[in-house]
Amino acid sequence: MHTQDTTLTANRQASPPLAHRIALVALCAASCSRAPAPAPTPMDPHSHAEPARVRVTHVDLDLSLDFDAQAIRGAARLDVQRTDPKAPLVLDSQGLGIERVVGVDGSAREFALSPGPERLGEKLTIQLADGDQAVRVEYHTTERADALQWLAPEQTTGGKAPFLFTQGQAVLTRTWIPLQDSPGVRVTYAARVRAPEGLTVLMSAKQLGRDTEGAFRFELDHAIPPYLIALACGDLSFRPISERCGIWAEPATVERARAEFEDTEAMIRASEEMFGAYRWGRFDVLVLPPSFPYGGMENPCLTFATPTVIAGDKSLVGLIAHELAHSWSGNLVTNATWRDFWLNEGFTVYFENRIMERVFGVERAVMEMQLARAELERELAELQPWQQVLHIDLAGKHPDDGFSGVPYNKGALFLFALEAAFGRERFDTFLRRWFDEHAFQSVTTAQFRAFLQRELFTVDREAARKIDVERWLTEPGLLPETPNPVSPLLGAVDEQVARWRDARSSDVLTTAQWSTQEWLHFLGAIAGDLDRAGMADLDRRFALTTSGNAEILCVWLRLSIQHEYEAANGALRQFLTNIGRRKFLTPLYKELMKTPTGQTNAREIYRTARGRYHYVARGTIDGIVGWNE
Ligand code: BES
Ligand code: ZN
Repeated sequence: MHTQDTTLTANRQASPPLAHRIALVALCAASCSRAPAPAPTPMDPHSHAEPARVRVTHVDLDLSLDFDAQAIRGAARLDVQRTDPKAPLVLDSQGLGIERVVGVDGSAREFALSPGPERLGEKLTIQLADGDQAVRVEYHTTERADALQWLAPEQTTGGKAPFLFTQGQAVLTRTWIPLQDSPGVRVTYAARVRAPEGLTVLMSAKQLGRDTEGAFRFELDHAIPPYLIALACGDLSFRPISERCGIWAEPATVERARAEFEDTEAMIRASEEMFGAYRWGRFDVLVLPPSFPYGGMENPCLTFATPTVIAGDKSLVGLIAHELAHSWSGNLVTNATWRDFWLNEGFTVYFENRIMERVFGVERAVMEMQLARAELERELAELQPWQQVLHIDLAGKHPDDGFSGVPYNKGALFLFALEAAFGRERFDTFLRRWFDEHAFQSVTTAQFRAFLQRELFTVDREAARKIDVERWLTEPGLLPETPNPVSPLLGAVDEQVARWRDARSSDVLTTAQWSTQEWLHFLGAIAGDLDRAGMADLDRRFALTTSGNAEILCVWLRLSIQHEYEAANGALRQFLTNIGRRKFLTPLYKELMKTPTGQTNAREIYRTARGRYHYVARGTIDGIVGWNE
């Protein structure tokens, strides 16, 4: 049993039962490599659930939001399918206060909570009675509800009402709902939510209006992975864009957001032409307060987005295309476990680019792809080999440890390589079939490989020879056959870079037509040649320190730290205090930590700002600044 020993050592924190199961996965991977058929429900090392024995199929929530206590209280009724009639129902729960579990007749059921590995919560085991097809779990959330961010009024744009939002992906839904928190266990859901007077509740589902007691009601009758159950509550207004799509945001933001995202309906149409019908009814976008830790989150019917993509010139709406694309890759066809995450994100970056091409033209799409590849190359230089693999091995690790640009950009480049080898027409037919045949299912990388083999590789053997699937999926780094997009727009920027290098003055630059991407490319290209005087010169001409564009400002602030350009110190502090998007915080805190003065500065800013960040961002930044208070 040497395999088991190694895995247990690598997973010292784990309590025996889950560690055992992780070990079993490792054992199976080692000894069953010749077995051809993938298991129908692959074991998920990041969930305690045992869905092959008893599986949750529907979740019915009855919740109250208590802003004063910062807690959600209520009940979840779980419908179950019992393959093994003797087996208990096993759920994931993290820090939930479980008050009582009852059958449909109201009689109590025994339950037990046992600790699991760090950051994966507890195992909640419920003894079912013979005829049970549903149980009701009465519970409340605690301060360990890491999915939730409760914002005080002053952390919102309006400043008057509090705000609450959830972030479920990857393994945080268990911190506010007791359920089988594995992307392989799809559920339909319904909810009834009470909130303080004057606040609006939204969820990732169809809105059914309010009941006689004023509670908000929702229903989603498509089965989704639990990480897509989402809720937000605050002072929210709505602006329509089309019959099926519109923008929710705080009143002060909603009009700007509507104007920025007015092409969303055109994006939905473009997607439908390429990948088939949009199957979720509405596609609304909720613009959150700036502490939202991600750029966007593809919650069904209601994408969550950071306000930092409102640049004023639509240059960052690729994010909307991205979250929309997840309506096919991710929400319709979902990664079965977190090691298959590239199936969600790689496909989505690829589609995002196809949508951008169709709506905004090929020049813009190629420009975005060239930047994506460049970013990936920079990132690969710093990642460990295991993190560079598409079919990443996460046994004994947390899903967030495998999070990087690899599943996104390397995944997308793999699909571009396939497109180049087989031709767009054939590849599009393949993709459409992939979605139609796996709609509302959770899929593994092995299933993708088998489908690729059957639908493409055996059909065009000549093209198949150009693609080494095994290496794409299992090796670190980039293959020689990786597509190398070359953007004429960025080529033109390079000419200006050359001119700037000769003159060392901003006078020679013509930037009026530049989008965010061209600015980012320019600043990246001249970064090594800049000094404090060069920064001051650029700032005088382009007022970069006061830029309202968060992408440009983030790069500029990083350069300011590097070159000790102190005129930007105030802007840096303000940025780090007001914005909680992890992608921006990470490079800035990392840059600060490179010098002793920067370290003092970073810790001092973080002391004030930390409380304003979501758990997800805090987790990352704690590690960077060495926070242990
Ligand atoms: N689903 C992701 C966000 C996510 C991934 C949350 C993993 C938690 C765990 C979302 O679709 C995404 O990829 N967002 C990107 C934006 C995109 C344009 C690349 C982001 O937030 O930066
Ligand atoms: Zn995504």
